[in-house]
Amino acid sequence: QTIFRKDYTPPAYLVDTVELGFDLDPDRTVVANRITMRQNPASKSRDIVLHGEEIELVALRLNGKTLAPTEYHLNGSTLTIRKAPAKAVLEIETLCAPVQNTSLSGLYVSNGNFFTQCEAEGFRRITYFPDRPDVMAKYTVMLRADKAAYPVLLSNGNLIEEGELGDGRHYAKWEDPFKKPSYLFALVAARLVCQEERYTLQSGREVLLQVWVEEGNLDKTDYAMQSLKNSIRWDEERFGLELDLDRFMIVAVGDFNMGAMENKGLNIFNTKFVLANPRVATDIDYAGIEAVVGHEYFHNWTGNRVTCRDWFQLSLKEGLTVFRDQEFSADMIGTDSGRAVTRIDQVRTLRQAQFPEDAGPMSHPVRPDSFVEINNFYTVTVYEKGAEVVRMYQTLVGRDGFRKGMDLYFKRHDGQAVECDDFRAAMADANGRDLRQFERWYSQAGTPIVTARTRYDAVKRNFDIILSQRCPASAGQADKLPFHIPVAVGLLSASGKDLPLTLEGGKHAKGATTVVLELTEQEQIFRFRHVDERPTPSILRDFSAPVILEYDYTDDELLHLFSHDSDPVNRWEAGQRLAMERLLKLTAQVAAAGGSDAGLKLDATFINAQRAVLTDDTLDPAFRELALILPSEIIIAEQMDVVDPQAIHVARQFMRRTIGAALKSELLAQYHANQTPGAYSPDALSAGKRALKNLCLSYLMVAPDMAELKLAQQQFEKAGNMTDRSAALVSMIHSGAEAGPYLKAFYQDFEHEALVIDKWFAMQAAAPTTNVAAVRKLMQHPAFTLKNPNRARSLIFNFTGANPSQFHAADGSAYEFWAEFVIKLDAINPQVAARLARGMDRWRRYAPALQAKMKKALEKVAGRAKLSNDVLEVVTKALAN
Ligand code: ARG
Ligand code: ZN
Repeated sequence: QTIFRKDYTPPAYLVDTVELGFDLDPDRTVVANRITMRQNPASKSRDIVLHGEEIELVALRLNGKTLAPTEYHLNGSTLTIRKAPAKAVLEIETLCAPVQNTSLSGLYVSNGNFFTQCEAEGFRRITYFPDRPDVMAKYTVMLRADKAAYPVLLSNGNLIEEGELGDGRHYAKWEDPFKKPSYLFALVAARLVCQEERYTLQSGREVLLQVWVEEGNLDKTDYAMQSLKNSIRWDEERFGLELDLDRFMIVAVGDFNMGAMENKGLNIFNTKFVLANPRVATDIDYAGIEAVVGHEYFHNWTGNRVTCRDWFQLSLKEGLTVFRDQEFSADMIGTDSGRAVTRIDQVRTLRQAQFPEDAGPMSHPVRPDSFVEINNFYTVTVYEKGAEVVRMYQTLVGRDGFRKGMDLYFKRHDGQAVECDDFRAAMADANGRDLRQFERWYSQAGTPIVTARTRYDAVKRNFDIILSQRCPASAGQADKLPFHIPVAVGLLSASGKDLPLTLEGGKHAKGATTVVLELTEQEQIFRFRHVDERPTPSILRDFSAPVILEYDYTDDELLHLFSHDSDPVNRWEAGQRLAMERLLKLTAQVAAAGGSDAGLKLDATFINAQRAVLTDDTLDPAFRELALILPSEIIIAEQMDVVDPQAIHVARQFMRRTIGAALKSELLAQYHANQTPGAYSPDALSAGKRALKNLCLSYLMVAPDMAELKLAQQQFEKAGNMTDRSAALVSMIHSGAEAGPYLKAFYQDFEHEALVIDKWFAMQAAAPTTNVAAVRKLMQHPAFTLKNPNRARSLIFNFTGANPSQFHAADGSAYEFWAEFVIKLDAINPQVAARLARGMDRWRRYAPALQAKMKKALEKVAGRAKLSNDVLEVVTKALAN
């Protein structure tokens, strides 16, 4: 059943207060719920509609009187009371069985502890309630549980009372002073310990910060706590937003569907985004913790204080909050080049995951018009493309203008549930800008393609850039109207310097070297004056819009940009274009030669350009690493009309092997020059050095000789941190050399560190030397389980999503594996299963023989009688579009 955005109606009843009582028991939890409601003047309906799922109704009273079953209507997932009085106090008693809840939505048990996850529609699995984000209420929560088993009882807001109940049970009463939608409710009842700290806000007010974990993990909470303090400070400084509670808690849980959840005052996190010390966590893990801690904290204003009217507006809070966490991470590094490195990472994510989504069967606008299952719309489009849309406001109105827009947004909407349009209106009104056309970024799906042409008039000294745009059709949207696209441009002289620009009719600062062209029509001409020589254009600097840029760069121009562009993102981009041209040619040659790489050649020009960047010590190591990574097999596949995963793999490996051999001495020198001796620190410079060093190692290990193998083995044995240790092991596994003893040692060292064992599975699953039979064998390992999402993802998703040459094995055996585990996972956890199901999105792009086998696998899943809505929506759309 499809739900449409256009069908929105306001709720018939508003809720003022909610009083919840929990008698927690894994098998049989009793929930008493007292809701004070009143009729909504904005609605004509007088029916109270409550949602409920997987719960048993025990008693229902309206204004003190028990309702007989004839006085309400209970159908599947809603409870309706027709013609209710204007004021209604509902008392509802229900039962649920948390220990049996394997979907991890609602109230569930993880490692013997109670946790909740209510976004998007999990609260209805706890009690009957108008479970929609535009119903905001004040909550009081009483928790009762066995004290020995659950010594810690937490909920949103402030602890106002606690005590003993006799027979070993105790209680805690919590009150959240702020109105909130039900999806932000949370409770934790657990045996946990915390790192805590009193922290003084800039206003002088003192708050209590806590990070709760299982006992053995107290040595891994420092970085999360530091990140939380940094987040609090950053939101004060950049946006003038203060923590509004006296107490802020982060709780880590090992079984969690997503990254983390911004429940008011009680953020619940996947352990992956909390726990870190140098022994178990990599630089990437550290960066992930900083970003996610920031993200959830920033939701307190963008999401909680101002929330979404309905779930179609999800990007209102997610796109904005991702943008905020991106800016936070960039500001934490603090340097321009560090900022650029984070931006390049964002571009890679878009190309790797969002552009394919935008072009595939699940394509949807940033603000979708319909869905079957909202959980399927926590996507890279809503999150990352949504963040790009927010970033474009900042590009169009400037940093100060953006801040003005944010201020106006909170002035107008604090305490409200609003729409994406309200955010756009605040940005427009605060800056006196007409942003009506900008709305199309929210309503039209698909990745726009911007084509650039240039012409130079040496006599008039004019340089014209002609930009045009188009956007391919997507499901339900055949024709698209032009977008409002900010295209940042600079011009390079022959010596590689930025030219001071004079844009005809432009309002930019005198002497500016980057200007933002606003493309609003299908085609527009932009004229630069006083240009003394034919320049090399650097177009779409800093990736100023989430588009595909087409421009017929010559190799010479790209080499010029790759060595001189002052914009690091476009400098990197030039290198990617040089590599991509070659990768596509090589792939075609491999395919024509029946899969062989015999006779392939890589030109010296390209190798020399790579050498120059590798050895340029004036460049950030982190930037050099990114510049040397070839486009991924997935990104290459997206450039092809008919995808041949094996040929792509062979071509890319050939290129890596050739670079590794040609630059052997330079790689070795950089390997040694970028060591980070002494105590581990996750700072950006050290992490960048490790990244470059480990990239050098991986190149040296494509076809290693004895000395190189020894290098990897030594790194593995001597490494003082997980970044170096795992990189060494990965390089061994990928080289095809005997890695068995090292894998075994790694396992034994970290047997009791679940997150490291996830890495152990993941690195094997993603190695091109691991086929589906090997994955099935790994599934027999005692440490493997489908029930823990992190573990299931580590092995299954890293195989189906990050190992394309094996996933697309010619016999289709891996597709059968995919179908089998989509079905198995669906019976346990539909949200996780539906993510796996997305792995077949691009099936129509493969060669006919593969396509037929993929279709068969999709049909096998779609043909199952008992499928969740989650998986059904994904496979139905894949087969239809
Ligand atoms: N709002 C959370 C975040 O982005 C994500 C929660 C998604 N949960 C879900 N079941 N889809 O931080
Ligand atoms: Zn979020």
